[in-house]
Amino acid sequence: MFPCDFAWGAGTAAYQIEGGWQADGKGPSIWDTFCHEEGRVFGEQDGDVACSSYELWDKDLECIQQLGLTHYRLSLSWARLLPDGTTRHVNQKGVQYYNKVIDDLLACSVSPMVTLYHFDLPQALQDQGGWKSPGIATLFDSYAKFCFQTFGDRVKLWITINEPYVCAKLGHEDGIHAPGIKEPGIAAYLVGHNMLRGHAMAWHSYNSFYRAKQEGVVSLAINSDWLEPLRAECTEDIAATERYLAFTLGWFACPVFVTGDYPEIMRSAIDAQTKKFGCTGSSRLPSFSKDEPAILGTADFFALNYYTSRKVKPGGGCGNMLSVKGDRDAEDVLDPSWPVCGVSWLAVVPHGLRKLLKYIKDTFNNPAVYITENGFSQVGPLQIEDVQRAEFYKDTILEVAKAIQEDRVNVRGYFAWSLLDNFEWADGFSVRFGLFHVDFSDAKLRRTMYQSGGEYAKIIKKYKEVNPEEKVDE
Ligand code: GAL
Repeated sequence: MFPCDFAWGAGTAAYQIEGGWQADGKGPSIWDTFCHEEGRVFGEQDGDVACSSYELWDKDLECIQQLGLTHYRLSLSWARLLPDGTTRHVNQKGVQYYNKVIDDLLACSVSPMVTLYHFDLPQALQDQGGWKSPGIATLFDSYAKFCFQTFGDRVKLWITINEPYVCAKLGHEDGIHAPGIKEPGIAAYLVGHNMLRGHAMAWHSYNSFYRAKQEGVVSLAINSDWLEPLRAECTEDIAATERYLAFTLGWFACPVFVTGDYPEIMRSAIDAQTKKFGCTGSSRLPSFSKDEPAILGTADFFALNYYTSRKVKPGGGCGNMLSVKGDRDAEDVLDPSWPVCGVSWLAVVPHGLRKLLKYIKDTFNNPAVYITENGFSQVGPLQIEDVQRAEFYKDTILEVAKAIQEDRVNVRGYFAWSLLDNFEWADGFSVRFGLFHVDFSDAKLRRTMYQSGGEYAKIIKKYKEVNPEEKVDE
């Protein structure tokens, strides 16, 4: 069954819930800028107010308690703490806000898991080149040290960067996330590289200066679908699946967990494409410098964001243009037997999570794993009796139990995405992932538990009750 100290959590991210985009001295972030430009987000919506958690934190805490969570994953807004991104100026109001959130959680016996970076770079740093610029890694490290110093006496679970793949690809290749850059085949590799460098520096800082006293753990959250060859016996499809995995999960997990460098098949695929296009010069995939802190070993656990599964076959390049997709030469298709509910990209495949967990155990040296995001959304008309989503949580948690019991994967926690309906990036408020409905037309932004929230609460209660250690404590 689940270990007695299993983390039962739910997650959110600062820009998606806080609002208060200019409150009390907060600086603008790239998501503020992006949303305020025309044509970027569904319905021209933005996170100016969102769930107003900056004002209504008490309401969020009530939701957390109603669910019976043992853990809550939140992210810090870098620009709320350091308005220009640097420690030259600290916004004390921002510090007070997060101090209250953390203290309130602990007072209710809920442990915080804190993400330092969930997509919202201070605009001031974007103006200096953002994640494309090498200097960003040390700025991130300074911000991380500031957070460890300020909150690390109480926060024991840290995520440095959430989903570097999404920041790199959606933000700098496809341009559909902030900062909206479209430089295919180039920028995503640079951004991913600087994110890994920044992450590693922050991990080393924690390790050298804070770990002994604070006794916490640090990782980065890596997103990955479960991938299978379209035709199980077809060698081309099998090779395409390996490439696809290397270009998503492997891109970030291989340097951190296995070799200190990018997967070999990723580099050779990129370099072969470069050659094919008749380009010369250094590789589009940067190399790690021996003079900088090592990347290998910079995660104390594996933080996995899993949403969906895909079948894979070769293909997907965009003609005469260099691109990540072209380098990868692998495209994904949906299996028609997997139901797609809510958003079009999210085929509901709970058993894919079990398979991915087993793959992670086998590939990355059996790490402790926290599932830091998992969930599924609905689009209008919204139903409070969201039967399908309630079933989904039951099915998924059963798969996690099987991964622990039968496959012996060391899963330490599960965080549903998300506590609340919130600002779902380019989809605005049209896509709802919450365990609580938020009425965005109501001035008080009333929160109401969905049936899926009730189901999750029941599951948590059940497993807490069968836990013998807790019974002794009672
Ligand atoms: C993740 C992201 C979350 C949330 C989720 C659902 O990529 O980290 O912030 O939006 O997807 O789409």
